[in-house]
Formats: sequence, C-alpha cells, structure tokens
Amino acid sequence: MESLNLTTKILVYGYEESTEDIKKLIDEAKSATKGAYAPYSGFHVGAAIMLANGKIVTGNNQENAAYPSGLCAERVAIFSANSQYPDIAITTIAIAALHNGSFTDSPCCPCGGCRQTMVEIENRFDSPLRIVMYGEEKIYEVESIKTLLPLSFSEKSLSE
Ligand code: THU
Repeated sequence: MESLNLTTKILVYGYEESTEDIKKLIDEAKSATKGAYAPYSGFHVGAAIMLANGKIVTGNNQENAAYPSGLCAERVAIFSANSQYPDIAITTIAIAALHNGSFTDSPCCPCGGCRQTMVEIENRFDSPLRIVMYGEEKIYEVESIKTLLPLSFSEKSLSE
C-alpha cells in the first residue's frame, strides 16, 4: 500500500496588498451582492469573472421557495459569461458575501457544486482558473480549481 500526499497552496493576503486588477474584481464581486435574491438565507453572494478578453461579467445568488431550484452566484456568473462569450476563457473569479449587513470576515469559499462547474471551465478552455475568495479579515487565492477540488470527476472519467 502507498499513500498519495497532496499539497495545497493558498495565498493569503489583505485587500490593500492585492494588485489593482484583483482589487477591481473584488470590488465588482462586492457590488454584485446588491443584486442577489436571497430572501430565504439572507446570505448575499456576488461573483465577478475576468475573461481573457478583459471583460468582466458578474453574477449573484438567486434563491427559490423550492430551495434546490436556486443557483449560487458563481454559477450564475459563469453561465452568464459562457452564454455571452462561449469562446473566451475565464481567467479569474472573485467571490464575496454580505451577511447581516456586512461582508464576511472569513473568505467566501465556493460550494462543491460550483467547484465542479469550475473544473469544467478549466477543462473546456484548457487554462487555469484563478479563484479569489474575499473576506474582510483575509483573502484566499488559489491558482487553479484543482487546488480546491483535487481528484475531480471530468470528461476523462467518462471515457475510461
Ligand atoms: N451561495 C453562493 O451563492 N455561493 C457560495 O459560494 C456559497 C453559497 C449561496 C447559495 C444560497 O443562496 C446561499 O448562498 C446560502 O447557502
């Protein structure tokens, strides 16, 4: 028997330390929380995507009285970007969440379903997706979804 040891590299920094590009994307994600429809959870999430052509596309969570019919901010943003720019790779996504009137202290990390969607994005465009998770106290950044979802299921798995 052997063991497989995976390493996870996460950059941790504060807003003031981030680059101008990242600041802009975080600002867009924070602003996108305003459009969230979250009457059931009260958790308003915003996501902002940077495309390889320099355009920014945003999204926010959209809830439903039939809970599973709602969708997370990340997927609203990703599907919106892909529907408008089907041939343009997504290079970065920033995520922020507003709860009880203030942005969360901890970084807002994507749920499992959104992580799976992000794996598809990396495979579809054959390019890494940087993920910036905003928190008032600290920001987490990973260079690829493979960091957050190693050993993922993909198109390759279907052909084995
Ligand atoms: N949510 C997101 O939009 N993104 C995340 O990364 C985590 C959770 C939404 C789903 C639901 O509308 C609310 O936040 C509470 O789970």
